[in-house]
Amino acid sequence: MNIYEAIRHDHDIQRNLLDKLVETSGDTKTRSDLFKELRKELTIHANAEERHFYKPLIPSDMMQDHARHGIAEHHEIDELIEKLEETEMDSSAWLKVAKDLKHKVEHHLEDEEHSFFQLSGKVFNDKEKETLATKYTAYMKAHR
Ligand SMILES: [Fe+2]
Ligand SMILES: [Fe+2]
Repeated sequence: MNIYEAIRHDHDIQRNLLDKLVETSGDTKTRSDLFKELRKELTIHANAEERHFYKPLIPSDMMQDHARHGIAEHHEIDELIEKLEETEMDSSAWLKVAKDLKHKVEHHLEDEEHSFFQLSGKVFNDKEKETLATKYTAYMKAHR
């Protein structure tokens, strides 16, 4: 497995949770459980990805701006998660913020899978792509 396959696998977990989350309603256990699960996935994934994907790209001139942009988007995602935590779960505002989060994350995943994966594929060799996958999945496993 290479780093792209490992990341894509977890992106699909996020997409699935986001789809389910926006189908929930009110102050229910389903909504609260899904939100907690998603929050955990997004947080650990962003940390694992920053360590084992973005950070090794920072020294590359070609990738530096892209890596910074990706990390900035992780912060924007964090802010939306915080906003959701501060919103009453049974208010209509909650679903609106959840939908904003869904759009933001989906856009970010698209960006990573299309432009970012392609560009960084020229920086890492095959062996490095596998080593990064091992480190990335070990981090995910340890923190899930
Ligand atoms: Fe990301
Ligand atoms: Fe990602």
